[in-house]
Amino acid sequence: MLQKIIRSAVIDAPIARVWSVLRDFNSHDQWHDAVAHSRIEAGLRSDQVGCIRSFALKDGHRIREQLLNLDDRQYKSSYCIVEASLPLQRYVATITLKPVTDGERTFWHWESSFATPPGRERELRLAVAEGVYEAGFACLRRYLARGADLHSPGPSAIGSASLPAALPLPNRQIVLRGHGAADELVAAAGQAAAPGPGQVRIQQRAIGVNFFDIYLRRGAMPALLAPGGTPGMEAAGTVLDVGPDVAGLLPGDRVAYIGPLPGAYCSLRTVPADWVLRLPAAVDDETAAALLLKGLTADLLLRDLGRVGPGTRLLVHAAAGGVGQLVCAWARHLGAVVMGTVSSQEKARIARAQGCAHVIVTADHRFADAVQRHCGGADLVIDGLGAVAAEENLAALARCGHWISLGQASGSPPDLALDRLTAKSLSFSRPVVFDYVANPAALAARAQRLWDALADGTLPPPVIERHPLAAAARAHQRLESRQTVGPLLLLA
Ligand SMILES: NC(=O)c1ccc[n+]([C@@H]2O[C@H](COP(=O)([O-])OP(=O)(O)OC[C@H]3O[C@@H](n4cnc5c(N)ncnc54)[C@H](OP(=O)(O)O)[C@@H]3O)[C@@H](O)[C@H]2O)c1
Repeated sequence: MLQKIIRSAVIDAPIARVWSVLRDFNSHDQWHDAVAHSRIEAGLRSDQVGCIRSFALKDGHRIREQLLNLDDRQYKSSYCIVEASLPLQRYVATITLKPVTDGERTFWHWESSFATPPGRERELRLAVAEGVYEAGFACLRRYLARGADLHSPGPSAIGSASLPAALPLPNRQIVLRGHGAADELVAAAGQAAAPGPGQVRIQQRAIGVNFFDIYLRRGAMPALLAPGGTPGMEAAGTVLDVGPDVAGLLPGDRVAYIGPLPGAYCSLRTVPADWVLRLPAAVDDETAAALLLKGLTADLLLRDLGRVGPGTRLLVHAAAGGVGQLVCAWARHLGAVVMGTVSSQEKARIARAQGCAHVIVTADHRFADAVQRHCGGADLVIDGLGAVAAEENLAALARCGHWISLGQASGSPPDLALDRLTAKSLSFSRPVVFDYVANPAALAARAQRLWDALADGTLPPPVIERHPLAAAARAHQRLESRQTVGPLLLLA
């Protein structure tokens, strides 16, 4: 008859910290007293599904177990015995972690089923339930407490509890082989460094894809992203561990970040704590990664540069895109007359639904006449197109209008002779979002406006296109071939 063992315990550590130990299929000889030594066979990674750990117990038994499933999103793993000197037959076990509601503790559920030779049921049930599971709970508690002591924070390091050993950890990442097309993005194994002073290491769940990542991939700024590097400027997830001199962030905190240095296309990343925001309970990881960079950009465009208010005549290009949709919705709320360009009727429908009152569908980027006819010219043009729109932007602007050149999805905009602005007393700006969130106070204030806009319905919940991290190339292909609407995410 099949035996079933179920045991559970509450561990006094945040879920990310407990998981960082348990997800490593070869860590048990460090924390479980019953295990003498363990190794992963065939040179595989210890978090790779299919890998086999071969270990010896202190009582002399030898066991080989295979990792069947590892789910970083559900904090769940399963494994089975493939060979053992103990008569545990058809043994399959599952570990599941859940956060306890205060967020600082973890509920650990451990269950298994197996068959035994007749007459040995009771002995083997006890061996598993007490000798493996209950002993394991106690051992892990001691191990985590010892680790916390070893890494005890100095007085300035508020809550700087670390992993038992602050070591580099295995990391799944996307690497740029060489500047060029999307297929230069390939999946690779790497490591995430332990956090140094002022840094945190984040278990990433959702990574924002931005058109900026495409410029870097193509080689527009080789000093920022060279071959061998990893793209990506934003992500959301959970703090795994915290280096010295970090205030206000703890392991287990749900966070998002935006930073001026690429490297976000990965499962685990160590970043400056100054880039990182704690997320409100109402904002899940995917929403945060979908909105952060684009929403902060919309905030600076409308509030700081555009000073958009009731009656502002606003023209936004790619109105159904990631930034475009947010600009439309937020500008409508502010009372602007929102006009937008898009390339298809389907995108026009989406832009309208987001608050773009007058949509111009154009394949050849001829829009100035339509804008002049509609409202006598635009007070503000938000232009992420670049090359193809430059001349028409000048023609579409009203007297004293302002042209914000935000990006260059169609290629670099031509050099602008300043005299071209004089005819209608135009102004021009070329902002980069990172400069507008360059300190934690600015970042926090802008993000708060973004979360507030989401909470009060000014911005609708984003409709997200999701891709697995390993399919980053596919996400890039879709974005640069104009097949997407709204934000794209990579899920780690
Ligand atoms: N400066 C900053 O700090 C900052 C921050 C965020 C974003 N941006 C810029 O804002 C713009 C929008 O970014 P996003 O990430 O939200 O992308 P997106 O708008 O979702 O995608 C780009 C859109 O641009 C339009 N487009 C027109 N010509 C194109 C071409 N030749 N190739 C590709 N796309 C073309 C397409 O919309 P249609 O098919 O409707 O024309 C496409 O869907 C980009 O220029 C980006 O660099 C700048």
